[in-house]
Amino acid sequence: MNVAVIGNGGREHALCWKLASSKGLTKLYCLPGSPGTAQVAENVAIDPMDFKKLIAFCQKNAIGLVVVGPEDPLAAGIVDALAKEGIRAFGPNKEAAQLEADKWYAKELMRQQAVPTAEARSFTDPRAAKEYVEMRGAPIVVKAAGLAKGKGVTVAYRMPDAIEAIDAALSGKVFGEAGARVVIEEFMTGPEVSVLAFVSGNAIYVMEPCQDHKPIDDGNTGPMTGGMGAFCPTPTISNEVLSQIERDVFIPVLDGLRRDGIDYRGVLYAGMMLTPNGPKVVEFNCRFGDPETQVLMMRLRSDLLEVLNAVVDGTLESVKLEWDARPSLCVIASSKGYPGKHVTGTEIKGIESADEMPDVKVFHSGTKRYGAATQTNGGRVLAVTAIAKDMDAAREKAYAAMGKIQFDGMHYRKDIGKLRNG
Ligand code: GLY
Repeated sequence: MNVAVIGNGGREHALCWKLASSKGLTKLYCLPGSPGTAQVAENVAIDPMDFKKLIAFCQKNAIGLVVVGPEDPLAAGIVDALAKEGIRAFGPNKEAAQLEADKWYAKELMRQQAVPTAEARSFTDPRAAKEYVEMRGAPIVVKAAGLAKGKGVTVAYRMPDAIEAIDAALSGKVFGEAGARVVIEEFMTGPEVSVLAFVSGNAIYVMEPCQDHKPIDDGNTGPMTGGMGAFCPTPTISNEVLSQIERDVFIPVLDGLRRDGIDYRGVLYAGMMLTPNGPKVVEFNCRFGDPETQVLMMRLRSDLLEVLNAVVDGTLESVKLEWDARPSLCVIASSKGYPGKHVTGTEIKGIESADEMPDVKVFHSGTKRYGAATQTNGGRVLAVTAIAKDMDAAREKAYAAMGKIQFDGMHYRKDIGKLRNG
């Protein structure tokens, strides 16, 4: 089968890397891809949001499956557009992707289905929103309801920060349409865990739980990012709690979607907080996580293409998910200034010698080729991932590999996997 992966980040490199060993794979493409995906796939310079060009490419190259990495094309209806032309795609359709693309839709669905989550209200009027936060007091969480490239969430510890976040979103100047509605939520405490599941009709296959580290600096300080590192499995969550999350979160949410006539197929990622009052949903993502995918793919022993095809065909029960018993850990190297304005186009050295280490894989999160050189091309640049007999050994190996890589302004956290609570 010819397969096309959509995206160009570390998640898509990890998916391509794993798909490359699938028995049923004939030819792998990545649109637009990166120097990392070029190691195992043919990169094709097509903007995946240009559905017309994408469809023409799939028809010309007899693509049997399109695997969609990022949320933007899912929210824009890439799966629906491909389905209309008879092209199979892995990922939820536009209606189902609302679970991530519209935080208020997700909240209302959770409320109807009695899914545990933070109490919340939504506002389009800044005055009403400010009155509400003044009544509730800080700390409080302000979220842009739409897709804001991972930057739409403010955990406001002080009232002026909450007011500023409301103004920033509702003015339309920071997130555009995505900020036209804000969701204001109760502040919750507890460790965060990423619980991802393959979902297909009634079938739910919860993957090994991961933990990512969102703040930019050690000790979970500084601004929030897309994720500065991850490890899998996380000991923070027991099998009992994982089963509870399947029963109290995944099943009722999927029931609620079905009641609305929505058939969810793809990965559903529940960002969970283990609060003193039990696990509660922080947010849903309608796709694989980044960098959770890097640690998951490092451990997945099953044939990924078989699993993805089973999700699309509604035969998930027929496949078995097998995991390497060894834990994996990923550390992200980011550009100077990230998650704010950051420098790109800086030469990176040492990727090959890090990649040569046994049980290490350097996934490319934001890189580009410049002649024979590899340069930075984003905020998150590399996802250095290792697998080893235990978590300490995986961490040592990942950091030893990171030590071989250099670029100007390179930043990475030194405590990935040390703080088991985030
Ligand atoms: N690691 C967070 C995310 O993928 O959204």
